[in-house]
Amino acid sequence: MITNTELHSQGNVFPGKLTSFDHVVDTLTFHADNGVILQVQIFRDSVIRFKYGTGGELEKDFSYAVEATSNRGYNKLSVVEKKNFYEITTSKIVCHIAKTDLKSRIFDLTGTIICEDELGFHYEESYQYGGEVVKMSKKAKPGESYYGLGDKPADNNLRAKRFEMWGTDQYAFGKTTDPLYKNVPFYIGLQNKVAYGIFFDNTFRSFFDFAQERHHVTSFWAQGGNMDYYFIYGPEVTSVVSVYTELTGKPELPPLWALGFHQCKWSYYPESNVREITSKFRELQIPCDAIYLDIDYMDGFRCFTWDNEKFPNPTKMISDLREEGFKTIAIIDPGIKVDPDYYVYQEAMENDYFCKRADGPYMKGKVWPGECYFPDYTNPKVRAWWADLFKGLIADNGLAGIWNDMNEPAVMGVPNKTFPDDVRHDYDGHPCSHRKAHNIYGAQMARATYEGVKKYIYPKRPFVITRSAYSGTQRYSSSWFGDNVATWEHLSIANIQAQRMALSGMSFAGSDIGGFAEQPTGELFARWIALGVFHPFCRVHSSGDHGDQEPWTFDENITNITRKFIELRYKLLPYLYTTFWQYAEEGTPMLKSLVVYDQEDAQTHYRNDEFLFGDKILVCPILEPNAKGRRMYIPRGEWYNFWTRETITGGKEVWVDADIHEIPLFVKSGAIIPRYPVMQYVGEKKIEFLTLDVYYTRGKEKSIVYEDAADGYDYKKGRFSLRNLSFKGKEKEIIISQYKDGKYMTEYETLRFNFIGLPFKIKYIEVDNVKISFKDLNYDQKTQTMYLDKNFVELHIVGK
Ligand code: GLC
Repeated sequence: MITNTELHSQGNVFPGKLTSFDHVVDTLTFHADNGVILQVQIFRDSVIRFKYGTGGELEKDFSYAVEATSNRGYNKLSVVEKKNFYEITTSKIVCHIAKTDLKSRIFDLTGTIICEDELGFHYEESYQYGGEVVKMSKKAKPGESYYGLGDKPADNNLRAKRFEMWGTDQYAFGKTTDPLYKNVPFYIGLQNKVAYGIFFDNTFRSFFDFAQERHHVTSFWAQGGNMDYYFIYGPEVTSVVSVYTELTGKPELPPLWALGFHQCKWSYYPESNVREITSKFRELQIPCDAIYLDIDYMDGFRCFTWDNEKFPNPTKMISDLREEGFKTIAIIDPGIKVDPDYYVYQEAMENDYFCKRADGPYMKGKVWPGECYFPDYTNPKVRAWWADLFKGLIADNGLAGIWNDMNEPAVMGVPNKTFPDDVRHDYDGHPCSHRKAHNIYGAQMARATYEGVKKYIYPKRPFVITRSAYSGTQRYSSSWFGDNVATWEHLSIANIQAQRMALSGMSFAGSDIGGFAEQPTGELFARWIALGVFHPFCRVHSSGDHGDQEPWTFDENITNITRKFIELRYKLLPYLYTTFWQYAEEGTPMLKSLVVYDQEDAQTHYRNDEFLFGDKILVCPILEPNAKGRRMYIPRGEWYNFWTRETITGGKEVWVDADIHEIPLFVKSGAIIPRYPVMQYVGEKKIEFLTLDVYYTRGKEKSIVYEDAADGYDYKKGRFSLRNLSFKGKEKEIIISQYKDGKYMTEYETLRFNFIGLPFKIKYIEVDNVKISFKDLNYDQKTQTMYLDKNFVELHIVGK
């Protein structure tokens, strides 16, 4: 263990005494006598940015993550000079900056310490990097838990662990592999039921230590750049995530089909094979909305070209598939083949768009096509050029989305798997080396791709998926977790990664269902699909090395189970879409680990397996072979077993049956869950009515249903339909009231109510204060269903 004295003697420089202070609007600047500057910026009542400079200088602001347009403004700001510190007070928090060493301490309004510097900011001149290593250490409180950091495969709670951010191509990664593909330097601390977040906006190679090296200290540092971080006060974990997501940018709504089922493999070719696969889905009546073309569709792996032998008429094929309800998505990698006869290469050479080494030559590296050069996506001109390259694939050929891969960036056959440090980047007019641009490279590629797809698919909505990302990439793209393995351990890793990504502002994510490397057994595939349909992004993908991985690859029983779960996803599409809308509107995580759902219950702090899908459905995957069920923790409150409709009171661990055709699934009592009929793809059939499953409770619960045209941008002009439904249940009475917002006219006119757990026989029913006969409502006592006009305001049911 390193002691404080050792740290001080290791060449670390700490801020000296405060010599001057100034305050301009939302920004406070503290100057120390040794040239350290601390700039404190009040973003919101709950968000404070801390940026440090050394040598008497503060670098000019530039961030790829924080939107210039992100919500700012506070209700209150007072700054008072005290004997030993400055006291900054907003309507939510109090922050002290010490005069002796610029250390900060943050309190809530009751005076409880939320987050406190240990050694605080310090830095070290680094000869190796010709710059500084910037460091921050905070006190880790006993019992404090930590969450977040993007795609890390470790257990949910990060306490006593250490991590690195340096996007890396990690084929067949494992539970302890670090770093991984994505760079999300954001974590959440939870102590004494109060949560806060720290977003360290630094794209250099960075590190996080959650009380591992020193048990009472959490620290983070980067091999360059600035100590520049945002403190976000909760006190709820969910609000930390929402605010972080707003700060780094909320996503737009995807087209509804993108929430359907996607089928992928490396690779489906030639055209006849693609058609075989898509026909088989329709023949077996397994819903599917998207089919993927991996690298083999290209001519010699040259991006933006087609192999004309394998795909003689891609436009026709894509259009035929579209008729069948399939959206086609193709992969595009960053490596551009060095080939003087290839137009993309020529254009980039003519315009000087490729990355170069420090001494001038191009950055050359091997990827699928052999020797490649790589566009510098941190240059806005390159991004604009790249975006325009999509005209062919999107506008002309008719692809519905693009899959970006290998953008860490991955280079084959070199020990560090990526560019050397000295490669130059534009960094939007702030030229720098790869040390600074590495962690943002893939994110900027996804951004440029998104801009291109958006431009050429308009007036429809774009769909992009990326492997690498930095904080904020959720604005442009969905993502998957990279090259996992078909093992039971990886099923559990996928479960954790999906939850962690949701906690890290990137909800629209999922694993390669079934595993990328190696081949799953039918049982593992079935268990994985059962979990995967509850992940915001739902795609089967495999390397194809060990055989096929389609729903019909195993036996008929597995095919039927797969169909059943995919159908369940399609039924729940309006619920999932509503959940996405909440994410897009408020930054709410689409999946909630139990700690997010109920942080006040300490039992949830170390749980990994159970999570909430949206805010009403509890899911817990089966993660072992030969299981007939499992023990799981049911969070506090009343729940319905989705399959048996039995009720259970949470706050305890219980055994739940779930044979191979089931997954432990519970619905919060009082919830109203919207449902569509099963379709083979989004928009296949007219929706005759919207089913609302009402899970009776004695008490109150609010639910919402968001719908719109499922594609396009009319919703931004108010053409959406938002049903706010309040449920009130008594011993012998139910009242459901609806408040509607938005101008969108849904194609159905009727709501079908489906009551679950109704504890009484119905005496009479009133709709908007008028008694209605059972016949007029088509009330079926056996199934407990009835039909109502979609514009009802109040449904009043009185029991006998
Ligand atoms: C990478 C991707 C994988 C893809 C393969 C071929 O390994 O992670 O999803 O199938 O490259 O393009």
